[in-house]
Amino acid sequence: MSVGGAPQRILLNGPVKSEALLERALLASSLVNVDSSQEVEVVRAIAQRHPDRTLRVGLRVNFALDGLKRSRFGIDAEGEELATAHARLAEKGNVAVEGLHGHFGGDRSAASYRQRTERMIGLVDRLFSAGPPKFIDVGGGLAGPMPEALRAQFKKPPPTYAEYAEAIATPMRERYGVGPDAPELIVEPGMGLFSDVLEFVCRVAATKTIGGVRHAIVTGSIYNVKPTLNTFDMPLLVVPGERAAAPACRWVVSGYTCMEIDILHSGAHTDLAVGDHVVFANTGAYTVVLKPPFIETAPAIIAVDANSTMTVARRAETLDDLMTTYPIA
Ligand SMILES: Cc1ncc(COP(=O)(O)O)c(C=O)c1O
Repeated sequence: MSVGGAPQRILLNGPVKSEALLERALLASSLVNVDSSQEVEVVRAIAQRHPDRTLRVGLRVNFALDGLKRSRFGIDAEGEELATAHARLAEKGNVAVEGLHGHFGGDRSAASYRQRTERMIGLVDRLFSAGPPKFIDVGGGLAGPMPEALRAQFKKPPPTYAEYAEAIATPMRERYGVGPDAPELIVEPGMGLFSDVLEFVCRVAATKTIGGVRHAIVTGSIYNVKPTLNTFDMPLLVVPGERAAAPACRWVVSGYTCMEIDILHSGAHTDLAVGDHVVFANTGAYTVVLKPPFIETAPAIIAVDANSTMTVARRAETLDDLMTTYPIA
């Protein structure tokens, strides 16, 4: 809401939501996906306190999927707990159970999205005997557009949006058709949608050769480039400073932190020297919120519009910004 979103368009997920947050969201007509049986009871208590209001909820479900470890989120659909949670919410006259939610990370294949959609349709059939609910939410975890240098590192080529649409919408269409009575299909892409909206720019601060391996140490870190600590080598582009060109060779590109794991690229074949800029692609998801105040403060974010006009979207963080929350200083 603080960035201007209409509260009734907000969907609240998460395994731990305070009672105050739940109450605020529910009374603002946001949709709350309930994650546990304890949360069911909190929602019931809020409904009791506000008999004149209808509270909008969904149920986050959890089931086994081929090749994936069981998730810790949502309510287990394999036993009785989910049906009980549904019944306890539905028996409150002023709680509307509008649908089911399932988000499972770890498998971006189209086949997995087809399987989870089919499983969710099966659960809807079991739980919503009076007819289809308002929505089925298949969560996020989808891959998005990415440079070839990143795509080539996937074991299997990541699906396109069209392939995901085919995998998810086909079982939905087969079961519900396409009319206004069909449940709304919700997807929650994070990484798939935002990865390619940001690039991270840093500078080569030092070069050295250790045990015959060339290292370039830059003014960025894994926390700027891949804070989820994945094992991909993030595609990079070197913008040379004012210097003569040199033959390309292999460089381990690493960051400013004190950790050995701070490797941004394990072997980039490029011409590179101190003072060059290095631009990392696909750094738009999780990098802003997962940058810790470790060794360096967070950099500025510059927005570039279609006319190449640049605006400071976020100023660089300062030491004072960090210290301001420590009143004992
Ligand atoms: C409930 C839920 N939906 C959507 C997402 C977005 O996931 P991703 O960025 O992998 O698409 C997350 C991320 O953890 C999530 O927890």
